Amino acid sequence: MSFVVAIDGPAASGKGTLARRLARHYGFAYLDTGSLYRAVGQAVRDAGSDPADETAALAAARALDINRINEKAIRTREAGEAASLVAVMAPVRAAILDFQRDFAANPPGGQKGAVLDGRDIGTVVCPDANVKLFVTASPEVRAHRRWLELKGSGSAVSEAQVLEDTRERDARDAGRAASPMKQAADAHLLDTTNLSIEAAFGEAVRIIDKSM
Ligand code: C5P
Repeated sequence: MSFVVAIDGPAASGKGTLARRLARHYGFAYLDTGSLYRAVGQAVRDAGSDPADETAALAAARALDINRINEKAIRTREAGEAASLVAVMAPVRAAILDFQRDFAANPPGGQKGAVLDGRDIGTVVCPDANVKLFVTASPEVRAHRRWLELKGSGSAVSEAQVLEDTRERDARDAGRAASPMKQAADAHLLDTTNLSIEAAFGEAVRIIDKSM
């Protein structure tokens, strides 16, 4: 049986960095499930369709080329926005659910466990995960982190704009009917507003080690 670590939380909470480090530490496979929604959103954009068009989004989800999750093109602000639009659609979510569950149950490299991060891993994708973490931070701190990232990759977007995007994305992710972003009842809360990635990692390892 695969040991599953489910990590959820809002954008730029630090969950991705944490998840990657945990996967490396334990020798587990890692899946960034946000990249699946980004790949679907970007595929719709590439086809010249509107990400809010459910027929186009569902077709893209069903035809998803999994290799796209490693593309740089899905890391842009526009792809993130398209991701959050296609992610409100229940049929789109259903189309990529089995892939995520299969990844958790049978890690592709034959590892003994898997770390998945996203918005609904502990609540919907892997409700029986061995450990669940909900990673968060204040919107201001998250927007600042995301802005530094975007600036570093050459974007001229303002920090105020990133904060506005962040709040809008949070509201859409938490307010949607289909698998809203929510802390599972049995998830451990990690607030990284005033926590370094080192400290968050140490806390997560302590929690996971206790469950092994
Ligand atoms: O985490 P990331 O910013 O890459 O996710 C992009 C979007 O994908 C999120 O805003 C959210 O709408 C959606 N998503 C989701 N469920 C997941 C992971 C991501 O709805 N498990």
